[in-house]
Amino acid sequence: MELNLNSVLAKIEAKLQAECGRLGTAIPYIPQNGHYVDMREENLSWWTNGFWAGMLWQLYHATGNELYRKTAEYSEDAMKQAMEQYMGLHHDVGFQLLHTAVADYRLTGKPEARVMGLHGANLLAGRFNPNGNYIRAWNKDMPGWMIIDCLMNLPLLYWAGEELDDPRYGTIAELHTQTVLKSLIREDGSCHHIVVKNPATGEDLEYPAGQGYASGSSWSRGQSWAVYGLALAFHHTGKTEYLNAAKRAAHYFIANVAATGYVSLVDFRAPKEPVWYDTTATACAACGLLEIAELVGEAEKELYRSNGLRMIEALLAGHCNWNPEEDGILQNGTVDYGSKTATHVPIIYGDYFLVEAVLRVLKKDFLIW
Ligand code: GLY
Repeated sequence: MELNLNSVLAKIEAKLQAECGRLGTAIPYIPQNGHYVDMREENLSWWTNGFWAGMLWQLYHATGNELYRKTAEYSEDAMKQAMEQYMGLHHDVGFQLLHTAVADYRLTGKPEARVMGLHGANLLAGRFNPNGNYIRAWNKDMPGWMIIDCLMNLPLLYWAGEELDDPRYGTIAELHTQTVLKSLIREDGSCHHIVVKNPATGEDLEYPAGQGYASGSSWSRGQSWAVYGLALAFHHTGKTEYLNAAKRAAHYFIANVAATGYVSLVDFRAPKEPVWYDTTATACAACGLLEIAELVGEAEKELYRSNGLRMIEALLAGHCNWNPEEDGILQNGTVDYGSKTATHVPIIYGDYFLVEAVLRVLKKDFLIW
C-alpha cells in the first residue's frame, strides 16, 4: 500500500468534524452501537478524558480550524471540575492535563490553562513515595502499586519544571524513571505492567497480571507505554541510559509485532487462541518509534522510522472506519486481556495516537508530551 497520508488527514478531518457536531460538549471514550456516550456523565475523572481534546488540539495546530479549539475547550472545562472534585484523580492526571490545559497553554498562551497545568503537576508530584522512589498508581488501598503507564504522565512534571525553572519536578520524574528501569523493565526489553512494592521500604513484592494475560506475560499496550515513555524521558533529560532502554523496549516490540502483520496482539505472551489484537498499542508504539527515530543518529533512524511506518500502514490498511456517520476511527482496540466488554472496539486513545502518528509523518504535529 502506498502511504498517502494527506488523503488520510482529509478523512480524519471529515470524521472528526462530524463527531464534533454530534458530541457538542460531551467527552468520548468507547462507542456503543456506533455512537459515543458522554464520559462527563459516566465518570468525570476517567483517565482517558483528555485524549479527545488532545486530538483536537493536534488538528487545531495542523489546520487552524477554530471548531477544533472550541470543542477542545469543553474537555478542559470538564477537567477543571474534576480537579475541583479531586478524589477521582491519580497518576493519570498527566494524560488528562497534557492533552487539555497544557496543550491549550502551549498553543494559545492562556494564563488560566497554565495555572491548571501547574496545579496538576503538583498533584502528580505529591504522589511520589520517597521510600521507594516511585509515583504511586491509583487510589484506595494500593500505596505500593507502581505501573508502567505512569511513564507517559511524567512529561507533565518536565513541563512544570521548565515553566517554573524548578528542578524538583524533573528530579521526581527521573527518580521514578530509575525505579521503572529497576523494577518494571526486564533484561530482554519486555516489561511488567505492575509491581507491588512495600510502601515503607520500596522492596518489590509481586507482579500482578494487571491488564495482561498473566503475571510474567507481556501486555502490549504496557510495552508501548515503555517504548514511548522511555523515549520521552530521553527527550526531556538527554540521558543516554533512557534512550538505550527505549531502544531495547522498541526492539522487543518490533520483533513481536512483526510476527502478526505489524498489528499487536493484546499480550505478546498469551496462548495462541483466542487471537485478540490491540490496535491502540500499535498506534502508541508507532508514535514512540517515530520519536526514537528523531532522537538517534542518522545511521539508526531508518530502523525505527520504517517499522513505525509499517505499523501505521497496517492499521490504515485493515483497521479504520472512515464512515462519518459512525463514531471512532481505529477499530480493534482492547482495554485488557479477556475483557468482556471492550475487546476489538474503537477506543479514544487509539484514535489519538493514530492522529498523532499521521501528523508526525506529515510534520504537522506538535509535541503534546
Ligand atoms: N492506563 C491504562 C491503560 O492503558 O489501559
